[in-house]
Amino acid sequence: MRIILLGPPGSGKGTQAKLLSKRYGIPHIAMGDILREEVARKTPLGEKVNVYMSKGELVPDEIVIEVLKKRLQEADCTNGFILDGFPRTLNQAKALDNMLSELNLKIDAVIYIEVPDEEIMKRLSLRRTCKVCGRIYNLHYNPPKQDGKCDVCGGELIIRDDDKPEVIKNRLKVYNEQTKPLVDYYENHRLLIRINGVNTIDSVFQQIVEKLSLKKKVNQ
Ligand code: AP5
Repeated sequence: MRIILLGPPGSGKGTQAKLLSKRYGIPHIAMGDILREEVARKTPLGEKVNVYMSKGELVPDEIVIEVLKKRLQEADCTNGFILDGFPRTLNQAKALDNMLSELNLKIDAVIYIEVPDEEIMKRLSLRRTCKVCGRIYNLHYNPPKQDGKCDVCGGELIIRDDDKPEVIKNRLKVYNEQTKPLVDYYENHRLLIRINGVNTIDSVFQQIVEKLSLKKKVNQ
């Protein structure tokens, strides 16, 4: 299965992608995580992309397209993947179509998680992420058992640099201008599955699994 997760910042793409990856046994490819890793390692690529990420702007298409191309060539992608945070522009969507058609592959579904802006501000300002294993928490909705520590690996919980209120506002603006047009693009390609993201994490997950299995049946 090849799935794209689409939705505004903080809609729960990362949270759901981790659950789906476990359920279907396919890798979760999170462009934001790949880029943050480069920033943390202070690589030349990391230094270049940090200029954009710290302001909530999109990293230029040619950089992320190249990063994705390399990642899709890794062996774990053979049986499918979940793309989280790619594509984010029409240009990226078309580049992905080209990459896959060269391999004679196609996307099976695009899951669009809808969440209103007010809810996003609340979620992102209270998000905490484990520095070691990447597990995502929210101090209100799914807090860790122990303050500042990951339940799973005991790692330190950190606040993402781009989760400051002024950067969140810009990320939302950028999303509305550059990424939201992809909803129409994938609707026209009959790939879009709409999910109401204002629900518990478990019930959003159930909605996704049910709609994916329906789509699979229709496609057979
Ligand atoms: P990226 O890391 O992809 O950030 P994003 O798309 O803004 O999404 P987030 O990771 O902030 O949110 P999410 O939807 O994954 O939500 P989460 O599950 O964490 O990208 C960061 C930056 O990298 C971009 O700004 C850009 O600069 C660059 N970049 C990345 N890809 C790029 C590309 N293709 N092109 C160019 N540049 C690119 O959940 C959020 C919070 O809500 C958590 O606290 C969670 O616990 C909570 N939560 C989740 N679900 C629920 C629920 N159902 N109910 C209550 N709380 C919930």
